[in-house]
Amino acid sequence: MALTLTDSSLVVSRGFIGGAWCEASSGRRLDVVDPATGRSIGSVPEMEGADAERGISAAAEAFGPWRTLPAATRGQHLRTWFEAVTAATDDLAAIITAECGKPLVEARGEVSYAASFLEWYAGEAQRAYGDVIPPVHADKRMLVIRQPIGVAAAITPWNFPAAMILRKVAAALAAGCPMVVKPAPQTPLTALALAVLAERAGLPPGVLNVVTASVDSSRAIGQAICESPTVRALSFTGSTQAGIALSRQAAGTVKKVSLELGGNASFIVFDDADVDAAVAGALAAKFRNTGQTCVCANRLFVQAGIHATFVKKFTAAVAGLKVGPGADEGVSVGPLIDDRAYAKVVGLVDDAKNLGAQAKLGGEPASLGGTFFQPTVLTGAQPTMRLAHEEIFGPIAPIFRFETEPEVIGLANATDFGLASYFYSRDISRCFRVAEALECGMIGINTGLLSSAVAPFGGVKFSGLGREGGRYGLEEYQEIKYLCFGEIDS
Ligand code: SIN
Repeated sequence: MALTLTDSSLVVSRGFIGGAWCEASSGRRLDVVDPATGRSIGSVPEMEGADAERGISAAAEAFGPWRTLPAATRGQHLRTWFEAVTAATDDLAAIITAECGKPLVEARGEVSYAASFLEWYAGEAQRAYGDVIPPVHADKRMLVIRQPIGVAAAITPWNFPAAMILRKVAAALAAGCPMVVKPAPQTPLTALALAVLAERAGLPPGVLNVVTASVDSSRAIGQAICESPTVRALSFTGSTQAGIALSRQAAGTVKKVSLELGGNASFIVFDDADVDAAVAGALAAKFRNTGQTCVCANRLFVQAGIHATFVKKFTAAVAGLKVGPGADEGVSVGPLIDDRAYAKVVGLVDDAKNLGAQAKLGGEPASLGGTFFQPTVLTGAQPTMRLAHEEIFGPIAPIFRFETEPEVIGLANATDFGLASYFYSRDISRCFRVAEALECGMIGINTGLLSSAVAPFGGVKFSGLGREGGRYGLEEYQEIKYLCFGEIDS
C-alpha cells in the first residue's frame, strides 16, 4: 500500500454491508490506481448485483428503527460523524488525492465541503416541518406531514469522492432513510474510509452500506438498485447518458430519481466587468479539480471591448498554474483521471485547433507524460467546435468573443445542458436580466465558485432533475402525506 497516513486503519479493502466488512460474493477484486503514477494503491471487492441486494436488505432492516428515532437523535449521529470526518481531514485528503489525482489543497477543501453536508443536515433533520392548511369546511382540519421515503441508494462519481457521497447520504439519513452507496470504480477507498468513520461514530448497522464495483459490475449494481421495489429513491451524479439509462431502468418500480448530470457552463465577461475579479473567477471556475467538475466553466464568452485585456491577464494567470502529481507542493493542476479522459481532451483540442482556434497557452500534453495535459487557453473558439457542445472535463479554457447581450444569451443557451453559468457585470439591471434569461439551475454572478451545503445544487434540461443541498435536498428523500380530519366541533 503506497499510502502513508496518520491513521492507516482508514484504508480498508472490503465493502460495508449491514455493519459488517465483507468481500464480493463472487470473491473477485478490483485494483485502485493512482492517476498520477498509473500504479496500484490498493484493491477492493468487485461486487455485483447480488451484493447490492444484500445491501438493500440490510438497509430495509435498518429502516424501521432509524426512521422512528427522534430527528434530534438522527441529527446527533450526523454531528458525531461530522466531527470524526473533520478530525480525519488530512488522511481523507491524502486518500482523495491518491485515487482521484486532485491537488492536496483542493482535497482538503473537499473534505471540509463534504463534512459541511453532515453538519448542515444534522440541523436540517429537525426542520422537516409539515403544514397546516386552512380548512375548506368548518368541521374539517387539514394537515401535511413529511415522512421518509424508504430505502435510498446513491451512485456517485470519482471527481468528488467524498463530497458527492456525503451530499446524498447526509440528506437521506437526516430524512430517516438508510442508504446503499455505490462509489465510482476509480475512487472506492474514500467511500470506505467514510464508512470506517461512520462506524466509529456509532451509526447503527445497515443505515450506511457501501458496495464497491468495477466499471462492468457497476452496471449490474445499477440495475439491481433500479429494479428493486425496496429502493424508493435513487440519487445519481454522473454522465447524462448514464442518467438516462438509470431512469429508464428505474421507471418499472416508480421510484423517485434525482439526477445531477453533465454540464456545459458558460462564463460570460461583459465590458462593464471588474476584469481582475473576472480573471480570478475564471481561474477558479475553470481549473478546479483540473477542470473535472460538472460546474466547470466550459465556454468563456468575453465581450469585444474587454476581450484583449481579459485574454492577456487570464493567460498570464493560467501560466502561473503548476502542473504535477496532486501530492506535490504547490501543484494546482493534477493528472486527468484516466486514459479515456485524456484522449477526449486531446481530441477536443485538436478539433478546435483544426477549426481555427489559436492556443495562446498550452494546447499540448504536459511533459510529465501519463494523463497530464497542459493548462490551455484557446482564443477564436466558435460554436461549430466540439468543445462548444461537449463537456471538456479538462484544463482547457476556450474563449469565444461576442458583441451584444442578446447575442451572448443566445450563445450561452444554445446547449442541451443547463447546470451552471457564471457572469461578470457591474450593472445591476443587467445582472437581473441575464440571470433570469440563462437556462440553468445555478448562476454565479461576479463569482466563480457557487457550491455550498446550504444552497440547492442541480440543473435543468439534460443536466438533471431534483436538487441536492440546502433545505431542498431533504425533499428528495421525503414523501408528503395529507391528513384530513373530519367531525371536528367548532
Ligand atoms: C460536480 O462536479 O458534480 C460537483 C461539483 C460541486 O459540488 O461543486
